[in-house]
Amino acid sequence: MTTHPYAPQGFEVTLSKRWFVAKGYTYETYVKDGGYEGLKKALALEPGEVIDTVKKCNLRGRGGAGFPAGIKWSFVPKEAEKPKYLVVNGDESEPGTYKDRYVLSRDPHMVIEGAAIAAYAIGAHQIYFYLRGEFGLPRRRLEAAVAEAYDKGILGDSVLGKPYKLNAAVHRGAGAYICGEETALLESLEGKIGRPRLKPPFPAVVGAFGGPTIVNNVETLSCVPLIFTRGVDWFLSMGSAKNGGPKIICLSGHVERPGVYEVPNGFPCNKLIELAGGVWKGRKLKAVIPGGSSTPLLVPHACQALAAEGAPESDWPLETDTPLDFDSVARAGSMFGSAGMIVLDENTCMVRTLAILGNFYAHESCGQCTPCREGTGWNTKMLWRLERGEATEDDIDTINSASSHMLGMTICPLADAFAMPVQSYLKKFREEFVEHVRRKGCWFPPFELSPHGDPFWEDTP
Ligand SMILES: Cc1cc2nc3c(=O)[nH]c(=O)nc-3n(C[C@H](O)[C@H](O)[C@H](O)COP(=O)(O)O)c2cc1C
Ligand code: SF4
Repeated sequence: MTTHPYAPQGFEVTLSKRWFVAKGYTYETYVKDGGYEGLKKALALEPGEVIDTVKKCNLRGRGGAGFPAGIKWSFVPKEAEKPKYLVVNGDESEPGTYKDRYVLSRDPHMVIEGAAIAAYAIGAHQIYFYLRGEFGLPRRRLEAAVAEAYDKGILGDSVLGKPYKLNAAVHRGAGAYICGEETALLESLEGKIGRPRLKPPFPAVVGAFGGPTIVNNVETLSCVPLIFTRGVDWFLSMGSAKNGGPKIICLSGHVERPGVYEVPNGFPCNKLIELAGGVWKGRKLKAVIPGGSSTPLLVPHACQALAAEGAPESDWPLETDTPLDFDSVARAGSMFGSAGMIVLDENTCMVRTLAILGNFYAHESCGQCTPCREGTGWNTKMLWRLERGEATEDDIDTINSASSHMLGMTICPLADAFAMPVQSYLKKFREEFVEHVRRKGCWFPPFELSPHGDPFWEDTP
């Protein structure tokens, strides 16, 4: 059982098991700990059987949308004129999300093993690891692990002795949030400007260089070896209904002990805050962003979304009691997204928080769609006007209306990624927005920086 500093007592940590072990990122440590046994077991099966096994496990994609991995793999046509590809999405740029960089720098062989199993299942002979441009240590560790994998017969002309050609290359982006979106990522991988493509066709049919391509998140693929070493029942037991396996959550904001936590899927939001020492400085909880900056807020009030399900009002849980998995967070009116959970205390100004998010989304819009290119910028300008006390109540309605014209109107969901928080902040904290007009500006204190540096960045044992 665990002595892991960022997991519940008594919970068996598997995804981040080697993060605190000396040289946990090397082939030697990985293999000593049972590494590449999952790949061995998967190679003994037919590719279709590998896909069926992953389907049974309810492994939901950890990159944001929560799409079941096994089902996605089954969309790849068996026969294709062009080569098939497996692309590992390590772009990780959503504010609040910082887990994949640890997987890559602390346990790169687990991702390589998961990617090799996925590639074999879909019939791909080439893996591309696409990493965010700024990643230094994750890239160095991954490149060293790929070299070790070639050296040890995991990659190359055969895989663990099975005659299946499998190559891998590490590609570094140039630091654009939009290149995390899978089709923009493919454009960037092909050497073009990273702009999303219209879908359909989906990448599983027409992806990298025109060939069928599966894009999966780093953490999604890290889960795959566990399915084959521990089995389907174990994997299901580590999660909640339709959300199999353990989950890594990036917890930041106003908690005493921010960090990258590993918990079972469905671990309650309030318990995670407790595990992190509670809201800092003894303050009250104001709101939680559950899944990265683009996801709507959960607040410590009765969960209205569950009212429709017929329970008496006294039994409605608080939104912040929600189990953290894709379906439960959706039932509470938000999204689990990339599990970048940000806790906001009572001193947080919601107008300023939203305006800062707006700066980010306006800057990262690729500019192809008018509602996104113009809407993110206009709304951000209006939010700062409100924060400075120069706006009217009508401006609040304009912000709301502009965001409703962004939702579902664009090539990719980046416009929604800002429109959704705008609507959620306005719905849950409208009075605070109006008060900024009445008081002619903001009365909240300046934001305070967390005294915690990154608890385990760069100083890997
Ligand atoms: C604007 C935007 C940014 C995204 N950034 C990432 C990212 O950094 N990493 C990631 O894995 N998925 C990201 N996604 C989701 C990907 O498009 C894709 O759904 C995901 O990589 C699929 O992997 P999964 O099924 O394993 O989750 C992003 C999506 C959007 C719309
Ligand atoms: S929604 Fe925004 S980021 Fe996405 S394609 Fe359109 S302009 Fe580009």
